[in-house]
Amino acid sequence: MGLVRSLWLTADPARFGTVVDPGDLRRWKSQLPEPTRPIWMSTGELQTELGRTLESQLRSLGYCVRTGPDRDADGQTLRAWAPSPLVAMLARNAPSSPAVDLGCGGGRDAVFLAARGWKVTAVDSLSDCVERGRGLEESVPVLYPIEWICADVRSEFALPSAKVYLFIRFFDAGVWARLAESAEPGAIVAVQTFSERHRAATGHPRSERTVWLSTTSDFGWHVRYSREKGPFQYRILQKPGADDVNSVAHS
Ligand SMILES: C[S@@+](CC[C@H](N)C(=O)[O-])C[C@H]1O[C@@H](n2cnc3c(N)ncnc32)[C@H](O)[C@@H]1O
Repeated sequence: MGLVRSLWLTADPARFGTVVDPGDLRRWKSQLPEPTRPIWMSTGELQTELGRTLESQLRSLGYCVRTGPDRDADGQTLRAWAPSPLVAMLARNAPSSPAVDLGCGGGRDAVFLAARGWKVTAVDSLSDCVERGRGLEESVPVLYPIEWICADVRSEFALPSAKVYLFIRFFDAGVWARLAESAEPGAIVAVQTFSERHRAATGHPRSERTVWLSTTSDFGWHVRYSREKGPFQYRILQKPGADDVNSVAHS
């Protein structure tokens, strides 16, 4: 999502913009710019009652409300947060499946998938990450509640059984080796790491542990997608087996 410089307001946390409560807008007034500057809202939100209420409140305070598209080029609703492009691509191309987000951070990918009907387990070793994830989940309607687990996946943590596993900007070769062994045939792993080339050029990340190296084994899994873009290496692998599909990765 590109940076949007204008002030966007929304009454709906699942949409793009700074969230304000229309019932409480007058309290916000001191934080709003002068009414000479327009405020933007998404066209789609103005089709909802809440959105129209916010718009009329803004107009009553003297603001000129302009509207813009609330969909990005992929037709997804704009949000103030975005999933990893690899996870967005996976969601476009694979059926909704039980998934485990390893090192889930603030939960952007877990929540993105859950909002699309995926059953997600999200694991992070930091409790404040897990709490942020829960908070994000509350702001978005999800079909199946996410199972949030605070655990160190490098320890003896038993990897939950799933069809899809995410290592997004978190990677550990030992965990990958355990997963490669224990996952069901047909399971998919989506990995976004810094690339080896980026590390060689910049020295970052310092630890090799979080980089997909040319020496990292793919354990004979099918490489369904492999791409380097910017500092990152994106890969989707599938364990050979009865459920093999060829259509996971077309962006
Ligand atoms: C760079 S963040 C990426 C978060 C998320 N995947 C994303 O892309 O937004 C790496 C995350 O991995 C988590 N992490 C690091 N080591 C971990 C471990 N051993 N077990 C579980 N989570 C871990 C960190 O707490 C952090 O939230």
